[in-house]
Amino acid sequence: MKVHIIGGGNLGVSIAVGIAKFSKNNQVTVTRRNTASILHLKELGITVSSDNKHQIQEADVVILTIKPYQVDTVLAEILPVIQNKTIASAVSGLSLEMLQTKTNNTLPVVRIMPNIAAQFGESATCISYPEKYKEAALPLVDLFQNLGTAPVIDEKLMDAATVLGACGTAYALRYVRASMQAGIEIGFDSQTALAIAAQTVKGAAQMLLEEKVHPEQLIDRVTTPQGCTIVGLNEMEHNGFSSSLIKGIKTSLNQIKGN
Ligand SMILES: NC(=O)c1ccc[n+]([C@@H]2O[C@H](COP(=O)([O-])OP(=O)(O)OC[C@H]3O[C@@H](n4cnc5c(N)ncnc54)[C@H](OP(=O)(O)O)[C@@H]3O)[C@@H](O)[C@H]2O)c1
Repeated sequence: MKVHIIGGGNLGVSIAVGIAKFSKNNQVTVTRRNTASILHLKELGITVSSDNKHQIQEADVVILTIKPYQVDTVLAEILPVIQNKTIASAVSGLSLEMLQTKTNNTLPVVRIMPNIAAQFGESATCISYPEKYKEAALPLVDLFQNLGTAPVIDEKLMDAATVLGACGTAYALRYVRASMQAGIEIGFDSQTALAIAAQTVKGAAQMLLEEKVHPEQLIDRVTTPQGCTIVGLNEMEHNGFSSSLIKGIKTSLNQIKGN
């Protein structure tokens, strides 16, 4: 598949690098207006251009990784030259209905919600598409499965997917940062504290994904009765650990929905 990514910023570059590394049968082009900071991608075999239409006619799919307010400008530029191409949008808040209207109902449209771990083949990319475009969407599902997981979800959950799967990266990193800060307070230098905290989170996630069990089952394995883990965990809960996370996630969702 030839993939044309418009918007070579944080997400666009992550997807481009992920494709180059983990989905090698596909060719990828990435565009942005100022390419100076992404020219190094050429070393991975990625085509880089400041022209959104560069080789776009050879593409099978166009992926939009631009900000919402950039969509109209970019579509006005490329629509005249992308007949028969699937257009996939990672733009937060842009519904499939809006995308179909903006593309004059002429192209198969797919909504994707990846995260920047696509670069490491570890994104959780939620995907939605109108049933009539299933055939066009399935190659994209395959593509993003190579970059992590790619569940197909009901579009009404796309805002929730944005919060849990994309914003979730920041929440997880803040957990690691807090652990690191605590690690320094209890005796480690910052680099060692960071390495231990990050690897511990990675290990916990790996266990969950491979064993497919409820987190509490794994927590049971770590918490000795009257031990140091359970007293620390309970102290965190007394201070609102789970509650603050749930409230934060709901606040992010309300913000996306404009409530
Ligand atoms: N970052 C994430 O983790 C994440 C996750 C899921 C979804 N998203 C969504 O993905 C979109 C991009 O987010 P981001 O964080 O990657 O933003 P970003 O880093 O600002 O990237 C946007 C890129 O678009 C480029 N751009 C702007 N106007 C353009 C134009 N007319 N033609 C071509 N490229 C243009 C910009 O570069 P130039 O100024 O050089 O053109 C910039 O590099 C947003 O809608 C966001 O909601 C992001």
